[in-house]
Amino acid sequence: MNNTFCLKAYAKINLGLKVLRQRADGYHDLESVMQQVSLADTLLFEPAAVRGCNFFCTDPRLSGPENLVNRAAALLQKKHGRKLPGVQITLYKSIPAEAGLAGGSADAAAALVGLNRFWKLDLHKSELLEAGAELGSDVPFCLIGGTALAGGRGERLQELPPLPFFWTVIAVPENEAISTAASYNSFDKRKMGEPPLEPLVEAIHDRDKQKIISWLARDFTNTLETAVDSCSSKVKGIKNKLANAGFSPVMSGSGPAIFVLTENWHDARDAICAAEQEGARVYLCWVTSGNKE
Ligand code: C5P
Repeated sequence: MNNTFCLKAYAKINLGLKVLRQRADGYHDLESVMQQVSLADTLLFEPAAVRGCNFFCTDPRLSGPENLVNRAAALLQKKHGRKLPGVQITLYKSIPAEAGLAGGSADAAAALVGLNRFWKLDLHKSELLEAGAELGSDVPFCLIGGTALAGGRGERLQELPPLPFFWTVIAVPENEAISTAASYNSFDKRKMGEPPLEPLVEAIHDRDKQKIISWLARDFTNTLETAVDSCSSKVKGIKNKLANAGFSPVMSGSGPAIFVLTENWHDARDAICAAEQEGARVYLCWVTSGNKE
């Protein structure tokens, strides 16, 4: 039987993110409304002569053994026996790395799903979610996709109704990658009121596009933005440009990616132009409603 197939690994944005407290294990408890978008990497799974997982990434900086795809494979091999047939995984990168879009976590989630299929492990969704949480806080969300309210360190998920359709313009400042750990180490809660997520969750339940957009226009949507604001004039420049063009730009996750949601394509095009004028790399995508596989 031909065991060659491709899977998409979808990026996520955080519509809102509230950091609650630091925990004894060093992680932070948070609350966040997470949303899957159509921007995606692609993973190709093929049989390989050499046993175990042979991994190649189109971005050479991400090809090392520490890549979450390799770590996902190593975790499954450890749990389910090392004598698994050889697999070649090629990761075609499109999601910018260290941007707050969960690119690495999305790849890990797709690797778990793909290897479960390739190696015929027959793991249940709950087992994949458990393995995902071992690999990273955002991996469980990337396994379910859609729209969810996250708690704990990000791995405890309550699924929400699908967000109404929005175009999503994502702007990433050039040469401004920020590691998740750096963002969590340097945010300053005192600089920001706590973004209340309840009205956003309510607006999602009501499928009220105007209320969702109004919530995103708040001054404070993401506690971690205080970490990025102080060190990145490029992020401020892009946000100001988009705000002056009439949009409500929001930082995703640990940053520095900024996104705006628009109801129609003409507005999306205007947002793209505004962000490009500030020198950002811009990605046009849309909100998506979950991993059905
Ligand atoms: O879970 P993940 O490996 O993606 O986290 C990377 C780093 O981000 C952690 O080592 C930790 O420093 C920080 N982090 C945190 N609280 C979270 C998620 C991540 O402090 N809820």
